[in-house]
Amino acid sequence: MEQPLNLQEYEQLARERLPAMVYDYYAGGAGGEQTLRENVEAWARLRIRPRVLVNVGERDLTTSVLGQALAMPVLLAPCAFNTLAHPKGELAVARAAAAAGIIHVVSTASTIRLEDVAAASGGLRWFQLYCYRDREVTRTLVKRAEAAGYSALCLTADMPIAGNRERDARNRFALPEDTRWANLEDAGLHQMPALSEGSALARYFADLLDPCITWELIAWLRETTRLPIVVKGILTHEDASLAVEHGVDAIIVSNHGGRQLDGVAPTCEVLAEVVDAVGEKLKVLVDGGIRRGSDIFKALALGARAVLIGRPYLWGLAVAGEAGVRRVLKLLRDELSLTMGLAGRPTVASIDRSAVRELNGMLRR
Ligand code: GLV
Repeated sequence: MEQPLNLQEYEQLARERLPAMVYDYYAGGAGGEQTLRENVEAWARLRIRPRVLVNVGERDLTTSVLGQALAMPVLLAPCAFNTLAHPKGELAVARAAAAAGIIHVVSTASTIRLEDVAAASGGLRWFQLYCYRDREVTRTLVKRAEAAGYSALCLTADMPIAGNRERDARNRFALPEDTRWANLEDAGLHQMPALSEGSALARYFADLLDPCITWELIAWLRETTRLPIVVKGILTHEDASLAVEHGVDAIIVSNHGGRQLDGVAPTCEVLAEVVDAVGEKLKVLVDGGIRRGSDIFKALALGARAVLIGRPYLWGLAVAGEAGVRRVLKLLRDELSLTMGLAGRPTVASIDRSAVRELNGMLRR
């Protein structure tokens, strides 16, 4: 294939290059993968309502999240084990994000230490946090992220226990010898157990992550850090309102890329419900199935402040390292700019709910 022209083509190329176990780990979802599929399909069920005879000679894609300026309303979602895709792993991703002027959310499960990822670029970074059963391990991660200049904590709330990922079980997913859970090296928790069947990652999560976390964790985090707290994995207006009550700084409407509870709604379908519940009280971001600039446009129209992309940047990374991630981001940027122009919405602020058409009651509570 020549230079890929869109994100789907990056996935095809990446699939040809990656070992099946790695491709399946990144691409796969939980259970029968219904939510995984619907995340992508749901954006296509929204229609754009273009306005004409609007001056679109200049399109301004800039915005801000938690007071941090972004060159476009996109963040890189936390994705585990980036060196499985490319030897430079999270370092390449960090540099591409910085070059694009966007935030890189670095995973607890990064294969390069969070301090080294921070040193790789002058860009903006958040740290994604899993809460370990050993709260001191969790505290140390938070403190290290703070010391290394991460500007927010992104707590993953939808994974008290790991989803059932059948592809990983079938492939007996495990990390190769040279790949480590780098941030947990100091705590001695950087290796997954060797298993004769099933996913070693699933066992790691089950053994080490705290399944008993509740909203009280937010108060504990507040005492532990001065960083803003973003909660990722909200899918209902009830939990969005609880996030407001608990003083969270932002939330991410997410179903973990369809990797946790199969059968939950695609994020596109519940975004408006969540946005309406929180009003102006906090910012709402969304991830799940974003593959085109027009999907970003639709998410903004439903009230998201910005979107996160996960798998597509891993495909770029697998195909061409940092340059591949940069190009994935450029494709999205160009597509979003074009959509804004053709829809007569030349600024991010001008993309309001009238920019999409309600379909099948999707926007109703
Ligand atoms: C980790 O967060 C994963 O989804 O595998």
